[in-house]
Amino acid sequence: MSSRTRTIATQVRAYDSAALAEAAALIVAGEPVAVPTETVYGLAADATSELAVARIYAAKGRPSFNPLIVHVADLDMARRLVAFSPAAEALARAFWPGALTMVLPRLPDCPVAALASAGLPTLAIRFPSHPAMRALIQVAGVPLAAPSANLSGSISPTRAQHVLASLGGRIPFILDAGPASDGLESTIVRPQEKAIVLLRPGPVTPDAIEAATGLPVIGAQGEGVTAPGQLESHYAPAKPIVLDCIEPQPGDFHIGFGPGPCHRNLSPAGDLVEAAAGLFAALYEADASPFPRISVAPLPLRGIGLAINDRLRRAAA
Ligand code: TXA
Ligand code: MG
Repeated sequence: MSSRTRTIATQVRAYDSAALAEAAALIVAGEPVAVPTETVYGLAADATSELAVARIYAAKGRPSFNPLIVHVADLDMARRLVAFSPAAEALARAFWPGALTMVLPRLPDCPVAALASAGLPTLAIRFPSHPAMRALIQVAGVPLAAPSANLSGSISPTRAQHVLASLGGRIPFILDAGPASDGLESTIVRPQEKAIVLLRPGPVTPDAIEAATGLPVIGAQGEGVTAPGQLESHYAPAKPIVLDCIEPQPGDFHIGFGPGPCHRNLSPAGDLVEAAAGLFAALYEADASPFPRISVAPLPLRGIGLAINDRLRRAAA
């Protein structure tokens, strides 16, 4: 993989049919391509090729024990990879296509590279709603392994420019279809017979999951190793961050929520969905600013606010 540490030319192309065809050709050739999803931009490669998956890890500088999410273009493709329990069926009906990832047992003849699930007997699988990602899977004709398109340990990208800043010179191609609408990585769950284990909070909330399945959503106590990406410092800007900050200090780039002075307001109206969509862009902006510290106003712990606070805690860890 030493070639990945050398600088290569990175093309940023607006999403249209010609750019899609080029991106798909690179995927088929085993190269990683950055592509938007409704959550964040992903760095996608052919999930059935060990070499293509290895190139994702190399480009991201990601620890190889950290498994990836595999994206499919429809439910049939998912059924060829993993085993669906009744709870998994109910979740797929309610939330796919969309921002929910399920960790399910790999089928015995699952064609996905072992490296994509880091040797685990399970696979994290998602059927995204974003038209660019869906089209890329369809045209390439293979499921796509795709972690967030950033260097390991930095913030997930919600815009093509974020991807370029993080992975420029390390990947050949970025498909630009504008900002990701949800702005936070997908909710990850492991459906069990009598409960749904929440491995990572995200845009699909525990309340919605309980309503769809009739099963309780429980935390992942003692399951830390099965979701290694949940390492405390996963989402980290380079600067110190102060959370729940009501009185910003001189030297703070202050990220606000609701009315009040700040450098960047996540939602002047106090709308949590709007705040989620702009969160990572605000962190990028704060990190790139001349201010030595970042402070963030308190955000309520309800709905998608749970996931926003989870990401902020990790950013500050
Ligand atoms: O919204 C998203 O989920 C984005 C877009 C691109 O789809 N992807 C994303 O991928 O956030 P990534 O690689 O940054 O995070 C994947 C998470 C990691 O925390 C990883 O440890 C966990 O999924 N994961 C993957 N496979 C797993 C498995 N078999 N069991 C448990 N956790 C798994
Ligand atoms: Mg990530």
